[in-house]
Amino acid sequence: MLAAIFVLTVLVATYSLFHLYQRHTAKPKGPVSVISNIKPIDKSFRWDTTEPEKIRPFVNKKDFRPNMGIKNLAAQPEQWLLIEDTYREVTTKKRDITSSNVDKTIQINDSPRSQLAAREYYDSCINFFLMRYPQYFVKKGNQVYNKINDDYVPASSAGEDPMALYLALARTMEEDVVVFLKDDPNDHEMEYTLRSGITGFPSGFDPSDNHDKVISEIHDVVPQYKERLKLSMGRFFNRLQPSDLWVRFNWTIQTHNQHYNLRLNHGHEGESIEEIKFEDIDFENGCFLRCERQVLTRLPKSGANIMTVRTYLTPISKIKQEGLADELCRAIDALPTDLGFYKRRPAWGTAVKQYLNL
Ligand code: HEM
Repeated sequence: MLAAIFVLTVLVATYSLFHLYQRHTAKPKGPVSVISNIKPIDKSFRWDTTEPEKIRPFVNKKDFRPNMGIKNLAAQPEQWLLIEDTYREVTTKKRDITSSNVDKTIQINDSPRSQLAAREYYDSCINFFLMRYPQYFVKKGNQVYNKINDDYVPASSAGEDPMALYLALARTMEEDVVVFLKDDPNDHEMEYTLRSGITGFPSGFDPSDNHDKVISEIHDVVPQYKERLKLSMGRFFNRLQPSDLWVRFNWTIQTHNQHYNLRLNHGHEGESIEEIKFEDIDFENGCFLRCERQVLTRLPKSGANIMTVRTYLTPISKIKQEGLADELCRAIDALPTDLGFYKRRPAWGTAVKQYLNL
């Protein structure tokens, strides 16, 4: 009898231990997001002394035709969203632009999936800032206190209006975002559609025109898109996983100082572009290398693909000081004619090269 009780006790204990072990070691359900577990930045980090990343995509570039140009960033997920010494100025600018141009800059489709994706994006960003920059973002009840901007935003998307959440993000981060979903995730032939976005800094297009459009329609204006990009982009978006993080850069030159621009930066079909005279350009304060740092991943719950877009405006005079004048002249000349027209090279090309060669 004693032996039977002993065996039963051992069996029950083993069974309970096994379940306890399983509970603690079982993998979380669903795909794990690369941006869900982030190391805090070094305690010595100061936002106002952190120089912006030097994005110079034209340096040593061999082929200037449009291409995917994606690089793997999954080993450095903490590089998803950046805080640099431009933070206060740029987020303030974005707050003002988005709040006074809501219809142009913020769109959210009202289907439940799109709303879920918008909420998931909000939570991912806020949790990222809490994990990565604990010295600047602090949870206080159901709010997060942003010490840099002396501002409060909701700690969670629960119960909040998605539009208010996107406006809160627009004043909290320099990055813009596009969020895109496929109506039938199992249909490999089907394209992704832009279902929401925060575009405080459009580079010469109206973001509201792209809302609810598929990727190929949005890229219709991009030279060589059909021949060189469409197929690879379709495959890329189908395969993108929450564990992936990819980065790509683009560049152009603009002869004004605006972050928010709905038309000026592009050449449009049929347009005859007038050359700008050298003396009409302010090379110290009104001529910039404009680069975008675009980072792509997939959100695990909604299955939405997202691309964050961080805009850098660097004075052309700085590029010259860095000793990159020859390299930039080479790049300007190397752009294929159609892409050059798209970037308005006929307007600024000659004058900018003249300045760089001085
Ligand atoms: C791997 C993904 C992507 C690639 C390879 C790509 C490629 C390109 C290229 C080559 C251009 C021409 C300007 C440039 O040199 O960059 C462009 C422009 C544009 N793309 Fe994409 N794109 C991607 C994702 C997206 C997504 C997801 C959206 C929005 C849903 C988007 C929206 C736009 C818009 C609005 C423009 C025109 C404005 C501009 O030139 O700045 N792109 N894209």
